[in-house]
Amino acid sequence: MSTPPPVPDAVTGAPARVVVLVSGSGTNLQALLDAAVDPAYGARIVAVGADREGIEGLARADRSNVPTFVASLKDFSSREAWDKALADKVDAFEPDLVVLAGFMKLVGPHFLERFEGRVVNTHPALCPSFPGVNGPGDALAYGVKVTGATLFVVDAGVDTGPIVAQTVVPVEDDDDVSALHERIKVAERQMLVDNVGRLAREGFRITDRKVRFGL
Ligand code: GRF
Repeated sequence: MSTPPPVPDAVTGAPARVVVLVSGSGTNLQALLDAAVDPAYGARIVAVGADREGIEGLARADRSNVPTFVASLKDFSSREAWDKALADKVDAFEPDLVVLAGFMKLVGPHFLERFEGRVVNTHPALCPSFPGVNGPGDALAYGVKVTGATLFVVDAGVDTGPIVAQTVVPVEDDDDVSALHERIKVAERQMLVDNVGRLAREGFRITDRKVRFGL
């Protein structure tokens, strides 16, 4: 993966423009919305997009007066058409960084080409372990003693991109999937806020899969 363009805050001092994509409750989004209220955070959430209507994530954006949009796969004739439309909708907000925060669809080649190296995703497991939609459940079933969350730069694979940050949580003996996922999400939100802020304020580069802050 090539080195991404620097996010402008690190160059001009203007807040980085961030578009967040969600599919569900949006507690990670809320953490970003709350952090971005402080101008010193260095990032501004300029829009929130979703792949479905009626979700709490979109309501959270509305309550913060952040514009929203929806690109629902069922409204398009093909996955490719959806991918292109999603890229167009995101592009309209001229993002420096796109954050997938509980977005339950894989973005496609159009999207990745348009925003190459500027899309990050948070996954509720310690990559490369337990990729896919059931990270907490797979970790629990395997019997690991620690798991966590990973923030990574999105590539064409499933949860395979260069790692920005990871956070570790214990697995307790009496955990079920829901209790474990909730514990992961507490740590995940903090990781997301801390690292999106750093990406925005400091810029970043990627060499041989290693993500480093700074230009
Ligand atoms: C997060 O754990 C995210 O990593 C996963 O789904 C969860 C979304 O939570 N893909 P929320 O919608 O931010 O509350």
